[in-house]
Amino acid sequence: MKELLKFITCGSVDDGKSTLIGRMLYDAKLLFADQKQALVLDSKIGSRGGEIDYSLLLDGLAAEREQGITIDVAYRYFTTKRRSFIVADTPGHEEYTRNMAVGASFADLAVILVDSSKGIQIQTRRHARICSLMGIRHFVFALNKMDLIDYDADRFGELKRHIDILTAETGLRNYKVIPVSATEGDNITTESKKLPWYHGETLLEWLEQVDVHMEEEEGFVLPVQRVCRPDSRFRGFAGQVESGSIKTGDEITVLPGEERARVSRLFWTDEERSEVSEGMPVTVCLDREIDISRGSVLVSGAEMLTGNLFSAMMLWMDDNRLVEGKRFLLKLSTQKVPATVMKIEYKIDVNTGDRVPAREIRKNEIVRCEISLTSPIVFDRFENHRSMGGFILIDRVTNTTSACGTVSRKLGRSENIIRQDLDVTREMRAASLDQKPLTIWFTGLSGAGKSTLANAVEKQLAARGMHTMLLDGDNIRLGINNNLGFTEADRIENIRRVGEVAKLMNDAGLITLTALISPYRSDRRRVREIVGDGSFVEVYVSTPLEECEKRDAKGLYRKARKGEISEFTGIGSPYEVPENPEITIDTSTCSIDEATDILMRELEQFLR
Ligand code: ADX
Repeated sequence: MKELLKFITCGSVDDGKSTLIGRMLYDAKLLFADQKQALVLDSKIGSRGGEIDYSLLLDGLAAEREQGITIDVAYRYFTTKRRSFIVADTPGHEEYTRNMAVGASFADLAVILVDSSKGIQIQTRRHARICSLMGIRHFVFALNKMDLIDYDADRFGELKRHIDILTAETGLRNYKVIPVSATEGDNITTESKKLPWYHGETLLEWLEQVDVHMEEEEGFVLPVQRVCRPDSRFRGFAGQVESGSIKTGDEITVLPGEERARVSRLFWTDEERSEVSEGMPVTVCLDREIDISRGSVLVSGAEMLTGNLFSAMMLWMDDNRLVEGKRFLLKLSTQKVPATVMKIEYKIDVNTGDRVPAREIRKNEIVRCEISLTSPIVFDRFENHRSMGGFILIDRVTNTTSACGTVSRKLGRSENIIRQDLDVTREMRAASLDQKPLTIWFTGLSGAGKSTLANAVEKQLAARGMHTMLLDGDNIRLGINNNLGFTEADRIENIRRVGEVAKLMNDAGLITLTALISPYRSDRRRVREIVGDGSFVEVYVSTPLEECEKRDAKGLYRKARKGEISEFTGIGSPYEVPENPEITIDTSTCSIDEATDILMRELEQFLR
C-alpha cells in the first residue's frame, strides 16, 4: 500500500485554491478523460473566458459555481506513483470556520494559500492558527499568483520573511514556502522556467516526499467502541487503533481501572491476525475477565491521564455566546460525559496572537478555558495523543456541536480535596427531626407568585410541626449572592449556589423551599443533580407573562419596557419553560389560598 497523505487546503475566496488543486490533478494526469472534456465544456460558461478553468473541477456544487466560492468541505482522492492523497478543500472565509475545523481535524498537513499580490492577510493568520489548534503540525505556504508580481524574487523574499515571523508567533515549526502560479501552472507539478531563482521542490514533489510521521505517538492506544459478545464463548473489544501496534501475548492495561491482562486473540475486521497497528479497526480478546465497556481505553506502553478537570483551547462555533458556567456534553474519543465550562481564561486575537481577557466568547473565536466533568474520564494532552486530547462540546438542547477543542493540561485541584466522612449522618439528622428532607424548587417569571406561594406553603408546613427554611431570590441576592447580577453567567452561578445551599439544608434535615426565577432549564437540571433526584420537587408557577406584567407589583416590567432594565426575564432575557416539573400551578386562575391548598395536596406524596 502506498503511503497516504491527508491534507487540507485553506485560502480566502480569491486566493485561487480550487484552481490550484484542479491544476495539480490535471497536470499530474490524474483526471479521467470524460472529466477533462466536461472541464473544457464548463469553462465556456466559467469565469476564465474560454481558457480551462481548473477550479471548476473542484467546485462541485452548483451554488458554489454561481457564487464562485467553495461552501462545503469537498474531499478528493488522488494518487501518484509515489503516494496517495486525500485532500479536504474547505471554504476560506470566516463564516465557514466550522467547515475548516472539520477538514483540519482529519488532516496531517495544511496547504495555506497566499495571494502574493496581496500579501499575508488576517485570513492567513486565522487559517494557520485554527489548523495548528486542530493538531496540524506540517504546513506548506503556497505563495500563489506569482505571475501577477512578475515572478519577482525580491517580493517573494519579503513575503517569506513575513511568513517566518507568523510561524514563529504561532509556534509552527515544520513549514515550507513555495512560489507558484496555479492558473499558469508554475511550480505546481513541474519546475517553472519563470522562477529560475527558486531551487526547491514543486508543490506536488513536496507533498509526495514530506514526512508527516516524524513525531510518532507513544505506545499502543485503543479506545473501546463496543463490546462484542455474539455468544457466551466469545468476548471481544472493538475499536480503532489510535496509535502503535500490539501482538497476541502482549500485556495491556485497561483504563481507567488500571487492570492488566494479556491479548489472547486479535481480529482485523473479521480476519484473525497475530498483530494489529495504527489506523486499523480491530477486535481484541483478553486472557481474563475484566470489566470493560464503551469508553474504556486499552493501552500498552502509553501513559494516559484520568481526571475530571482540565484546561483546554477551543474554537467556539455556536451562534450563541459562551459564558462561564454553561453546561454541555463532552465527547472525547469514545467517552461522553456532562461537562461545564467553569472559567474563561482568555481569548486569542487571531491577528496578533495576543491573549485578550474576556467574559464571553463569540462564534469563531479561540478561547482558553477550564472544563470540569461530572465524572472522571481517560484523556491525554493533545500534543501527546491527538485522539485522546481532542474533544467536542455538544449543546444538550439543540444537539449541535458548539465547540471543538484540545486538552492543554490536567488540573488537579478537585483531586487533592477528599470528602470527609461525618459520624452524624444526614439520615440521623432527618430522623431526629422526624421528617424527610426535601427541596421544593419554585420557578417561574418575576411576579408569577413564587415567593407568595413558597411563603404560604412554608407556613402550612411549619404549622404541622415541620422544620423548614425558605431561600427567596431577592433576599439571597441581598446577602450571599450580592456580588451577582443578571447576566447569563451570573444567573447560572446564582442558581448553582442556591442549589448547593439547599442541599446543605437538606443534609441538616430541613425541608428547603426556594423561590427564584431560575430561567434556564440546564441550571434547574443541574440543581436536581446537586440535590438528588429523590429529594427534589420542581414547582412551575406557570402564570403567563401578560398576567405578571399586569400585576407588576415591583414596577419592574414597566422599567424593563422603558429600557431601564436591560436583561429582564420575559422581556430582554429568556425564560425556558420546565419540561417535566413535578407540579405546575397557575396563579392567574385561582386565589392564593386555593393555590396553596392544591400545592399542599400535591406535595403530600413527596413529604412521606
Ligand atoms: S434568577 O434569574 O437568577 O433566578 P432571581 O430569582 O435570583 O433571578 O432574582 C429575581 C429578582 O430580581 C426578581 O424578582 C426582581 O425583583 C429582581 N430583578 C432585578 N433585575 C432583574 C432582571 N434583569 N431580571 C429578572 N429579575 C430581576
